[in-house]
Amino acid sequence: MNKTDKKAFTFFVSMLFICVILILFSLARYENYTPIIKLNGLKNEVILMGEVYDEKGVKAFNGADDISSRVVVSGKIDSNKPGVYKLKYEVQNQEGKTASETRYVTVLEGEDNTSVSVVDGVTYVNGVILVNKNHGLPSNYDPKVNHEALKSLRLMQADASALGLDLTMVSGYRSYQTQVKLHDYYDLKYGKEVADTFSAEAGYSEHQTGLAFDVGYADSSFEYTAEAKWLENNCHYYGFIIRYPKGKADITGYVYEPWHVRYLGRELAYKVKESGLTLEEYLGVN
Ligand code: DAL
Ligand code: ZN
Repeated sequence: MNKTDKKAFTFFVSMLFICVILILFSLARYENYTPIIKLNGLKNEVILMGEVYDEKGVKAFNGADDISSRVVVSGKIDSNKPGVYKLKYEVQNQEGKTASETRYVTVLEGEDNTSVSVVDGVTYVNGVILVNKNHGLPSNYDPKVNHEALKSLRLMQADASALGLDLTMVSGYRSYQTQVKLHDYYDLKYGKEVADTFSAEAGYSEHQTGLAFDVGYADSSFEYTAEAKWLENNCHYYGFIIRYPKGKADITGYVYEPWHVRYLGRELAYKVKESGLTLEEYLGVN
């Protein structure tokens, strides 16, 4: 090798080295990050029917890099049709790691049809207590079991029993403190993400209202029993609804719970049943 060749060779090797370092550096940069998405605006937006939905967008980051332009949005809102709509925002970094966020947009029928009020930390929609992942209860809200609801439950159990069906109550009113213990137990056993799909955090359980009961047994196999079938077809006659219907977890926040009934009174329960909607959809809120 002459001197010029040697120089060229050294230059080539140095460049190659720099390139390898740069590639490793950029790989390392992506390797360590899982992207994150942050919603601009609210997670739960509410608009009136006919109103234009003002999409506030999202911000997405991979480490310090702004990758908002790579966010893909799915879901549609029909602002002429009341209901709860879901928008999903997804982003993927170069490594294939993904992040997603969801926004719920509720289209309300009209100002006069839905009145939402919060009294002492309890949400009422058209006079109906609403408890879900978005509407909690104060820790000192302690009404104990609702006697009208309990009376109706007893009647329902007696009628079911006459048909040979066992709708024993396995859980009824639960205090805030009981829910803390229960949810902590599930968190430990299954991890928070899974636990949150079937167990409410303390202050967000309908059981704290004294208006909800679990009957039969709280296990997914209950779905296939004659009891579950009867409950589904008849509980509205006694003023109850199956609060967490099948396939509606994106609206109710919970997986199918064929054993969990919520007392609404006969008239409203009948209407909700007839509508085929979840309580959130029926009330036009989320
Ligand atoms: N299983 C229902 C969602 C609760 O924990 O209240
Ligand atoms: Zn329950």
